[in-house]
Amino acid sequence: MTMHWFHAALPMAAVLATAASAQETRNPEVSGPFVTSPVMLNTSSASVTVSWLEKGADVTVRQGAEVQSSFPVEVRKTTFTHLKPGTVYTYDAGPAGKGKFKTPPLVGQPFEFLMYAESRNGNVSNTIEQQDKTNGDDIHSQMIATMSKEDPDFVMHLGDAIQTGPDQQEWFDFFRITAPLMRKTNVALVYGNHEANAPLVHDMFNQPKTYYSFNWGTSHFIVLDSEYDRVRLAQAGKSTESEQEKLWQEELTWFKEDLEANKGADNIFVAFHLPVHTATAYKRRDRSFRIQREWVPLIEKYNAIVLNGHEHNYQRAQANGIHYFVTGSAGASLEKVDWPEPGITKKALAAFAYTKFRVDGKHVTMEAFDVHGKKIDEENVR
Ligand SMILES: [Fe+2]
Repeated sequence: MTMHWFHAALPMAAVLATAASAQETRNPEVSGPFVTSPVMLNTSSASVTVSWLEKGADVTVRQGAEVQSSFPVEVRKTTFTHLKPGTVYTYDAGPAGKGKFKTPPLVGQPFEFLMYAESRNGNVSNTIEQQDKTNGDDIHSQMIATMSKEDPDFVMHLGDAIQTGPDQQEWFDFFRITAPLMRKTNVALVYGNHEANAPLVHDMFNQPKTYYSFNWGTSHFIVLDSEYDRVRLAQAGKSTESEQEKLWQEELTWFKEDLEANKGADNIFVAFHLPVHTATAYKRRDRSFRIQREWVPLIEKYNAIVLNGHEHNYQRAQANGIHYFVTGSAGASLEKVDWPEPGITKKALAAFAYTKFRVDGKHVTMEAFDVHGKKIDEENVR
């Protein structure tokens, strides 16, 4: 692969960022400005968008002994075009950090991507049998350390990256924790219920809608929003049923058109947060029968591979010839796998996990690893 070098056009505030300040983002005494590590988004064979957060100075309000503080956040983005396909680029963002990313190949060269979900940094009170006796922040950090030993073309986060979508402090923590991985690859976010359709998330991840698609080599990736009927208007409460219906129909129409337009791809991956199949009794209440009725027939028609999140464990299922992967928790409290679906659930483990897919033309393999990097499952998908 050809190596290229460019300087991301970070503003002066970015230059003020230091490694020390990045490590102190959880300290309420810290004051701005500082930035998060840049992340690479919307990467195509010819372009990439670089996004990062800038924090202003803390603002406090007081009434007697009661003190509240907040800080302004700005999302900064810049886009580079005229990139070459199948190429490793390095970037230099000054003191905010250096990194690299790959552009997707035009031809069917092999590639790898990682999938993880439910990182929910810092919001875990317990784990099953206190498996790791650490909090969610620690699990997420450990997971990132393990995943960073890989060299993926990109990472898909299957949603619930943080606990509260509009909480800017949580996103600073998220980017602080994920920096070792994000500095070496591209990222695509699937919107979960905890992203809560927050405008900040749309802005940071540079997606005007919560569903989108992209190509990597000769594979096509479709990201759907399974949360249309949960939380649609983060700042103003739940949307009305007619608004939900309109959004569902728009997304469904787009899904059908995108599938048809890309039916010649070697593989179609369809990623959405809410799983089609679950081996967790507690999570059965969350299943969407509308997804079963209206998305699954399309998934089967186009023989797609399904990637899901939401469950706080690792699961792999197969139904009507379709492979379903649930990536596992990367920080959220583990949930039991106490209700496997007969004939459908192929593997289910109450484990913190990430999965690695290797794609070589029409050939797809999957390996799953725990937080320590121990392989816990593998599958020849096709
Ligand atoms: Fe979720």
